[in-house]
Amino acid sequence: MKKIKQSWAEPYKIKMVELLKMTTAAQRKKALKDAGHNTFLLKSEDVYIDLLTDSGTSAMSDRQWAGMMMGDEAYAGSRNFYHLEEVVREVYGYKYLIPTHQGRGAENILSKILIKKGDIIPGNMYFTTTRLHQELAGGRFEDVIIDEAHDPENTFPFKGNIDLSKLKKLIKKYGAPKIPYISMATSVNMAGGQPISMKNLRELRALTKKHNIRIIHDMTRVAENAYFIQQKEKGYADRSIKSIVKEICSLTDGATMSAKKDALVNIGGFLAVNDYDVYEEARNMVVVYEGLHTYGGLAGRDMEAMAIGIKESVSDDHIKARIGQVIYLGEKMMEYGVPIVKPIGGHGIFVDAKKFLPHIPQDQFPAQTLAAEMYLDSGVRTMERGVVSAGRKTNGENYYPKLELVRFTIPRRVYTQAHMDVIAESAARVYERRDSIKGMKMVYEPKYLRFFQARFEKL
Ligand code: F0G
Repeated sequence: MKKIKQSWAEPYKIKMVELLKMTTAAQRKKALKDAGHNTFLLKSEDVYIDLLTDSGTSAMSDRQWAGMMMGDEAYAGSRNFYHLEEVVREVYGYKYLIPTHQGRGAENILSKILIKKGDIIPGNMYFTTTRLHQELAGGRFEDVIIDEAHDPENTFPFKGNIDLSKLKKLIKKYGAPKIPYISMATSVNMAGGQPISMKNLRELRALTKKHNIRIIHDMTRVAENAYFIQQKEKGYADRSIKSIVKEICSLTDGATMSAKKDALVNIGGFLAVNDYDVYEEARNMVVVYEGLHTYGGLAGRDMEAMAIGIKESVSDDHIKARIGQVIYLGEKMMEYGVPIVKPIGGHGIFVDAKKFLPHIPQDQFPAQTLAAEMYLDSGVRTMERGVVSAGRKTNGENYYPKLELVRFTIPRRVYTQAHMDVIAESAARVYERRDSIKGMKMVYEPKYLRFFQARFEKL
């Protein structure tokens, strides 16, 4: 008898659906041209399956929607703020909470408080907005992620780890007082959603304690990181996601959070710290940039949805299905021979555009080109994460990142397995005709975070 497979399925059922517009090839060709061949500039209406990002694109639960109706829209002291504060303390363990409109609002405030001109901020690979706020505050980011993270083929399970010898060198060169904090992300986005191990984090904690350097945690996808620790790190197989998340946070001094990812809301974020002095200053500064410290740019109902979403995000069943779907797509794409970053990460599949389109040099934007081709083929919208996203250094030179990727980001609780099949088949079709694909030139380049609004023309 054939061995019976043990499948998993989503721990929810569908109560409401959102209808999608189907487009023809001719319509997509026109839409792409109007968008300057940048998938960020497409109208969402013209997109069939939207894998641009997992940010703010989650489907909220019936409980979250019910919570929205319980919004206390008082200017000051909203009940929902106190609920959110209680949940952040319970689930993550950080003492003080400052809500912000989204992650970069927290990054702005934190960078302004902790960074002085000339400071060095080491981190496990850059993230676009995080690094820009560090630079705008006068600091300089230094990448201390392990070398394996820059190699899409390397299957090391914790490619988000920090190379402590690289960090020690920086401390020796610049001195600990020049390093206000280590910028440590869980589920490193630009590396392909790759996790950091608890062991590495513990060693990082020991080293930074010795030098009196803070660890600031970009906890945007901490629950997804916890899943990989549970599945792959010795000693964690029987631990709950919730307890692993709390242990991760306990090894750090504070965090910036884009709640639009892990926390299953469409808008929101926060800064959370243990240090009262930092909190005191942040509470003051948030009033200038976001709003009063008990709402930080959010409506009461947004904070309520976030509080409920945080609790749902650390459920073992939720995370297993969430990452299970990502793995399902990645394995399908590998079956078709499409070159992807390995191991499969938490929030999406990252296609290696250098391998996919080896005939297109990096300054003709292979990843941007591939994202455009995916849209043309099937109306699937993906995102460039390569030389365009990397932008320019403060001296104006281009960064040329080793990784030239197209991100197929999976929104949480939104698409079905059948959608995953359609995506993989479309990627396979584009791969089949890869030799005939030509690169692009950039015809408009904005000054900041150029990937959002840049325009391109086909060569
Ligand atoms: N940190 C990480 C790791 C992120 O992925 C993001 C956003 C932010 C910070 C900033 O948060 O968008 O709420 O201001 N990432 C989105 C993405 C935009 O598509 O990866 P935000």
